[in-house]
Amino acid sequence: MNLLITGGGGREHALALKLAENQRVNKIYCAPGNGATALLDKCENINIFKPDELVEFAASNKIELTIPGSEDLLVEGIVDLFKSKNIPVFGPHQSAAMLEGSKIFAKGFMERFGIKTAEYETFYSAADALMYLKTSTAPLVVKADGLAAGKGVIICQTIDEAEKAVREIMIDNCFGKAGGSVVIEEFLEGYEASILSIFDGNSITPFISAKDHKKIGEGERGLNTGGMGVIAPNPYVSDAVFEDFRNNILNPTLRGLKEENLEFSGIIFFGLMITEKGIYLLEYNLRMGDPETQAVLPLLESDLLVIFEKANRGNLSEKDLQWSGNCSCAVVQSSGGYPLAYDKGHEINGIEDDQIVYISGAQLSEGKLITSGGRVLTAVGVASSAEQARINAYKMMKKISFKDQYYRNDIGIID
Ligand code: AMP
Ligand code: GLY
Repeated sequence: MNLLITGGGGREHALALKLAENQRVNKIYCAPGNGATALLDKCENINIFKPDELVEFAASNKIELTIPGSEDLLVEGIVDLFKSKNIPVFGPHQSAAMLEGSKIFAKGFMERFGIKTAEYETFYSAADALMYLKTSTAPLVVKADGLAAGKGVIICQTIDEAEKAVREIMIDNCFGKAGGSVVIEEFLEGYEASILSIFDGNSITPFISAKDHKKIGEGERGLNTGGMGVIAPNPYVSDAVFEDFRNNILNPTLRGLKEENLEFSGIIFFGLMITEKGIYLLEYNLRMGDPETQAVLPLLESDLLVIFEKANRGNLSEKDLQWSGNCSCAVVQSSGGYPLAYDKGHEINGIEDDQIVYISGAQLSEGKLITSGGRVLTAVGVASSAEQARINAYKMMKKISFKDQYYRNDIGIID
């Protein structure tokens, strides 16, 4: 079988490695992939990005399954395009992808189906949003409606900050068209959880839980990032919290998808906040998380290709996902300066063959891995206890080096 994965981050490296375990897989094309997928057994990087080029490539290279990695192509409608040509693809069609592509659509959906989420208002003009802020109290969260590469959410401790966020998003257009409208919502205090799941069009099968660490600084301080580390399972997701999630978020989401004719086979990633008043849904993502994928896939014992195939046939069930029972700690190493400006072009040393290290921002040059992005790699420790997984991850971290490297030392420390 030939497969095609779109994207070039650590998530796609992890997906390629896991899918390559299946004996039926002959070749995995990564578009564009990165310096690590270039070296992987069975993998080949291809330098194409646009939906029409990808569909043409899939048709002429007998691709039997395409897995879009990131949200941009899903929101552009890549799944609809593949389906219109009868080429197998795993992911949501464009109208379902809008649950990630438009925060206003997502919040409306949550409201229609009684899914617990932060109180919110939507605004289509800066004047209206600024007027509303005059009578609001902080803290508040201002969110650009559309996709903004993970940067469109601004947590504001004061009304001044919220006014500044509205001006930047709606007047200065710092996120372009994505900021034509905004959601302003209640700030929720609690512990975050990420639960990935697979929707097969009939039922939603959840993965084990994970906990992302979003901020650049230790102790969850400083700017938001794509994610600086993940542990799985999430220690705050007790059985009771999971039941709350299943009854008040997962089940009504399933009902909503069916009632609004949004069935598809693909990923639903629930971004959650566990508060004193129960579990809230912050957002939906319609693709795997990065770095959640890197923490969760090493714990999955089942064959991922078979899971995707069953989902595409509409008959996936919880017994198809077997977990090892281990814990993982995935720590991201980034270029110094990220998420603001950073340098690239530095050689990475110290990665050993028997380690789980996923590359996200590095290219291959003359046989060497050279940094090319903000988040550079994720090292994953796996063990039967969370504490040992953490120790294993940081042992690797200490050996891996490149100029100006940065990582948080507190991934997986539980308060
Ligand atoms: P989102 O893109 O909606 O996942 O938001 C990015 C991050 O912002 C989340 O992972 C949370 O850390 C934070 N966030 C989003 N909405 C809220 C909220 N209502 N209250 C507190 N934090 C939030
Ligand atoms: N780690 C969060 C995300 O993938 O959106």
